[in-house]
Amino acid sequence: MDGQGASSEGQRVAAELQHRLAQAAPGRLADAVRLITGHAFEILSILRPSPAELEAVVQFLTEVGYATDARRQEWVLLADVFGLSDGVISDAAPLSPGVTPATLAGPFYRDDAPHCALGENLCRNGQGTPLQVRGQITDVAGQPVPDARVEVWHANAQGRYENQDPDNQPEHNLRGRMLADQAGRFHFRTIRPGGYALPDDGPVGQLARRLGLSLKRPAHIHFAVTAPGYRRLVTAIFDGSDPAIGCDALFAVKPGLIGNFRPEDGLLTLDVALTLDRDNPHATPTIG
Ligand SMILES: [Fe+2]
Repeated sequence: MDGQGASSEGQRVAAELQHRLAQAAPGRLADAVRLITGHAFEILSILRPSPAELEAVVQFLTEVGYATDARRQEWVLLADVFGLSDGVISDAAPLSPGVTPATLAGPFYRDDAPHCALGENLCRNGQGTPLQVRGQITDVAGQPVPDARVEVWHANAQGRYENQDPDNQPEHNLRGRMLADQAGRFHFRTIRPGGYALPDDGPVGQLARRLGLSLKRPAHIHFAVTAPGYRRLVTAIFDGSDPAIGCDALFAVKPGLIGNFRPEDGLLTLDVALTLDRDNPHATPTIG
């Protein structure tokens, strides 16, 4: 069969599949499958893969499955390194102008971080370069958001989170939750986080290396902010001086999320400004 014949056959099958899917119950599932398969046939018509290449793709996906278990999610990693995870959370709901962009919470978030008083030290083993963090939570009009609950978590100087490093760090090291004051202000002590790299010992890491994609994550501190009447914000502030700031593997470094870790009165200091969006600002009012 020559190439033209294969293309015509591909077009026939693609059209037949679209016809069959058109009979499916309407809805997002059918829409999604129609779009995905339609684009897949387009890709086939451009790349014209050989059977051996198709087999290699199947083998790769099989290995991704084998690498996934209760402790490791290689499929999520695959979506992450191609920016799909970030794309979904960024586009899931339109933000008002000026709102702090969201990022992925990531696999090391815990919802049981201990409550801390303002000013408390989140570093529970005394290891690392001391850092003070001061922040304020406002709305898009610049008005303070009172009574916001702020959750914080980050890696140690070696780029390890306590829940991936239980032999070397005490539980809940470098994480905590606190209540901002009536002016939306909060502050805490911790240590300077280190950057880290996504795992490269599985099929996704090997693929990324072959493609020259970065697996590095610049150092950052995660924040999750909840306040009555506002949309929950999950984001991170990155160390602008980290050499990997321009090549974050997860595409999460965005304007407004780059922090300036600078000395102040002999102490490394980071100032953070987080802007929340009103709850459902684009919702259509219900009549009746
Ligand atoms: Fe992280």
